[in-house]
Amino acid sequence: MLSKQRVPQLQTCLSPALLHTNNVSQSIVVIIDVLRATSTIAAALKNGAKSVIPVNSVAECIKLGNQLEVVTAGERDGRIAEGLAYGNTPFQYTEKFIKGKTLVLTTTNGTRLLHMALAENAKEIITGSFTNLSSVCAYLIEKKQNVILACAAWKDKVNLEDTLFAGAVISKIKEHFIIDCDSSQIAESLYSLARGDIFEFMQMKNASHFKRLLDFGLEKDIIYCLTENVSDVLVIYKDGRLVAG
Ligand code: MLT
Repeated sequence: MLSKQRVPQLQTCLSPALLHTNNVSQSIVVIIDVLRATSTIAAALKNGAKSVIPVNSVAECIKLGNQLEVVTAGERDGRIAEGLAYGNTPFQYTEKFIKGKTLVLTTTNGTRLLHMALAENAKEIITGSFTNLSSVCAYLIEKKQNVILACAAWKDKVNLEDTLFAGAVISKIKEHFIIDCDSSQIAESLYSLARGDIFEFMQMKNASHFKRLLDFGLEKDIIYCLTENVSDVLVIYKDGRLVAG
């Protein structure tokens, strides 16, 4: 007799500080850093980067840059990290600049969370942002595995943009999952309030990193990172690298 197909679970983790409370080793972990790491990674891979190597420290990034034929880049507190030439803006990684190359990237929150998920033996890791929303949703439905929507947040403080993206994913795939997690309810409820115009909602709510990037004159980055499917590629972590799936 065929076993009744087990319906997978979906959980949302609003801060890296809560990751350990989730069933990481039995789940596909979606690393979410809308502003801007996972948006930039999707842009680079969509524009033909061979792979993206996410590293935890600037020192490691520089070291790899001295050892390998790679492009090194990094951001700290929204600015280009000291000692590196390139930062975390999706507009840097045009086809002309990045096609066929490997990008080594370190960021304040996104790459940190990815390494935390690795340390917790995540079953699989993909990255998500509004820029590749459809690819993420299609993959999670197809895989029929437990899912954790993991928000990179800001230095462990919950942020709006990552929570909204988790809500967007839930709104599109919830009928395929068991969802008994209040964080998922919070994310979906927030998204239902903001979905009409996420940029305006973030502005109205004075979102912290949104404001920080605006102050740095990076409105173009914000608009790009909030645009659905503008670089719609599935991004999967394989053998130490993020590659287009
Ligand atoms: C992060 O990791 O915190 C972000 O990607 C920061 C940014 O790029 O502004």
